[in-house]
Amino acid sequence: MNSEHETAAASSDDLNLKSCCANVYQSDLARLLLGESFHPGGTVLTEQLGSLLRLGPDKQVLDVAAGQGTSAIHLAQRFGCHVRGIEYSALAVERATEAARAAGVDKLVTFEQGDAEHLPVPAASYDALICECAFCTFPNKSIAAAEFLRVLKPGGQVGLSDLTRNVAAVPADLQGLLAWIACIADAQPLESYVRYLTQAGLTIQMLEPHDEALAEMVKAIQGKLLGVELLVKLNKLQLPGEIDFAQAKAMAKSAAAAIQAHQFGYAVIIALKP
Ligand SMILES: C[S@@+](CC[C@H](N)C(=O)[O-])C[C@H]1O[C@@H](n2cnc3c(N)ncnc32)[C@H](O)[C@@H]1O
Repeated sequence: MNSEHETAAASSDDLNLKSCCANVYQSDLARLLLGESFHPGGTVLTEQLGSLLRLGPDKQVLDVAAGQGTSAIHLAQRFGCHVRGIEYSALAVERATEAARAAGVDKLVTFEQGDAEHLPVPAASYDALICECAFCTFPNKSIAAAEFLRVLKPGGQVGLSDLTRNVAAVPADLQGLLAWIACIADAQPLESYVRYLTQAGLTIQMLEPHDEALAEMVKAIQGKLLGVELLVKLNKLQLPGEIDFAQAKAMAKSAAAAIQAHQFGYAVIIALKP
């Protein structure tokens, strides 16, 4: 899969990739390994993003690839803003909607199934847009960036956080489908995220490294993988389908080594629609 192919029509490979990514992140295993927040830094980093975007009760926010809705709900609780979450997985949308109801913020936070590359919202309708740990999984990043620009009001801002790659090529053992879904295989150099956003017409306002958040997240996943494997072996936990724990542990180990060697990091980017 090559992220540079920029055809307007979605290929069947692209559609498969999006569904596959959505299926993995809506799985019980993903929640066991990642918790509710599916990005490095969790809600702490989301809140920092909210502060950088100066969110408040008067702001309309779009959360692109909203996952289980944790960030959208947290931002509404913390800043009182209205948040609409767009997410490819219908099941995740259902869960996020229920979570917003349970948290008592369903008047502020709503979710809808949709594709980041064809956002189901009108032009110039949002003050801010967040996209956490998901842009790197979009097959057509130029179209997604153009969508960000389209849906923002003039003066609106993007708060993007994502995996960064500091080596010319992703190591061979981090290139498979699992690595793609885990956001590693198509992690971009920081300059490349900047290029996608600026080519779409956005102006970069701030770049902030958060490599330590990624290292902590991978360390936590390694620990949880061991725990989940043990529970499955002891028949104390049943997961649908066969999990290749050896493959998952090997990939997590390679990822941890690559992060320690500064081959991968995590960064926050704030950009403005002029
Ligand atoms: C790593 S998770 C991040 C979820 C959420 N932003 C968070 O930080 O908790 C990536 C999410 O992107 C969603 N996703 C992937 N491709 C998408 C697309 N083209 N449009 C909308 N959502 C997408 C997946 O279903 C998954 O929920």
